[in-house]
Amino acid sequence: MRRLKWGVLGGSGFARRRSIPAMMLSPVVELLGVASRSREKSEKFAEQFSLPEIYDSYDHMLDDPHIEAVHIPLPNSMHCEWAIKAMEKGKHVLVEKPFATNVADLLKVKGEVVRTGLKVMEAMMWPFHPQHRKAKELIAQDAIGKVRLVRSSFTYLLTAKTGIRLDKELGGGCLLDVGCYPVSAARYYFAEEPTNVFARGDIHAELDVDTNISGILEFPSGRALFDAGYHLPYRTDLEVVGEKGRIYFPRAWQPHETASIFLNEEEIVLPTANHYLNLFDHFSNAALNDTSLEFDVEDALKQMRVLDAIKCSILLN
Ligand SMILES: NC(=O)c1ccc[n+]([C@@H]2O[C@H](COP(=O)([O-])OP(=O)(O)OC[C@H]3O[C@@H](n4cnc5c(N)ncnc54)[C@H](OP(=O)(O)O)[C@@H]3O)[C@@H](O)[C@H]2O)c1
Repeated sequence: MRRLKWGVLGGSGFARRRSIPAMMLSPVVELLGVASRSREKSEKFAEQFSLPEIYDSYDHMLDDPHIEAVHIPLPNSMHCEWAIKAMEKGKHVLVEKPFATNVADLLKVKGEVVRTGLKVMEAMMWPFHPQHRKAKELIAQDAIGKVRLVRSSFTYLLTAKTGIRLDKELGGGCLLDVGCYPVSAARYYFAEEPTNVFARGDIHAELDVDTNISGILEFPSGRALFDAGYHLPYRTDLEVVGEKGRIYFPRAWQPHETASIFLNEEEIVLPTANHYLNLFDHFSNAALNDTSLEFDVEDALKQMRVLDAIKCSILLN
């Protein structure tokens, strides 16, 4: 079986812990190396994951003609710039969430996708877990009736005092970091786009980034209630409520080895799965066989429009 030749742009902690270990499991991924601003860091990744190449700059990787696709887990403000640079060098691109920090940047990416025809996707991994496939199946079978309410959260206690999540210039703040999950889930389960947004949030006095947010999204069929932030315990649940029942996910974004969801009172246990692996398999197969991506750049743009609107609602308060 042919494997897609990948590179990772940036020696990210997330890549070390989650995405690279998943890539190593995929039958359609061949990871050549991790590009870092520091040669030493690239060497360390190569050693840890037995990778053949060392790249001491991001451009160094993009100039390698053997690399066919790049994964971009850089700070949020750098995603669009490096996605465009990668496409200019003919690489397919899987960009970490959030794809962008504003719609204007993402429109430039879209222009390049149209020009090149390359595969480009936002790396939202959670829909690739069987718990969400199962829920979609149940909804399609009318198990809960028409979806009218989606309620979800992503909060945790951020102990760090600095770093990309608290740096405004790098696209920090909880909306882009974790608020993007409840927003994407609401769009996914309504299978519609919101028409109105209302949100409130706390802005850090010195750092000028949002640290806690709550809001309402109005969809043609109903409403979504969401909250996200850095000052509450770890909460990642999701409830999808229809006219005659509900599906509840105790851990919607990062389930345990086996995931449980609840169709009303009935527990449904899903088999062990790695949603990052499923995501890399899906993207690699699409690039290798020129098949469609489940989430394309248009979808990322729709998501970004909602995130921009939430930001406006908070700031206009
Ligand atoms: N899908 C998920 O489950 C998930 C989970 C966590 C994070 N993420 C996403 O992954 C991305 C990275 O998050 P992370 O937690 O891995 O962050 P991180 O550990 O800070 O890694 C970011 C990397 O970006 C590079 N970088 C380039 N310019 C930088 C700058 N000015 N300041 C800091 N780093 C810079 C650095 O690599 P070099 O020094 O090697 O160049 C750094 O290691 C974010 O977009 C985040 O939203 C996704």
